[in-house]
Amino acid sequence: MSEKLTNEMREQLIEAAKQARQWAYAPYSHYQVGAAVLTVSGRLYDGINIENAAYPATICAERVAIYKAVSEGERQFLALAVVTDNGGTPCGICRQALAEFGLETIILVADGTGEIKLETSLADLLPLAFRADKLDKIEKV
Ligand code: THU
Repeated sequence: MSEKLTNEMREQLIEAAKQARQWAYAPYSHYQVGAAVLTVSGRLYDGINIENAAYPATICAERVAIYKAVSEGERQFLALAVVTDNGGTPCGICRQALAEFGLETIILVADGTGEIKLETSLADLLPLAFRADKLDKIEKV
């Protein structure tokens, strides 16, 4: 458990992810996912999974949450919570998407009741991450 995250923040994140989950658009898998991310600046963004009849066009709740944040100028994430029926962990693509913005992000995984099943970090979820330092051009706009 990270000391950077207070219990109040944990509750805030889980509650936001739980509430958002009701809007999940998952007519194909019926697996509803809610996520919420807390920025270092203290803002909270939620997200849901949004499926598509062309299955690969589906986007996960975690990416919706962080892309909403990034599109508003936020790039530093203290913690992200994900809520599913059975405590599913973020998929590989979402781990990679999050890694772009730092490996220190705390990840909370909760079940449908909001009970935290796992608290870890992105660094632990995505060891040996591929990041911008491996590219020739590392300048970020
Ligand atoms: N899903 C997420 O939203 N996040 C994950 O980390 C795992 C999978 C969604 C995608 C799809 O809509 C459904 O869950 C089943 O894979």
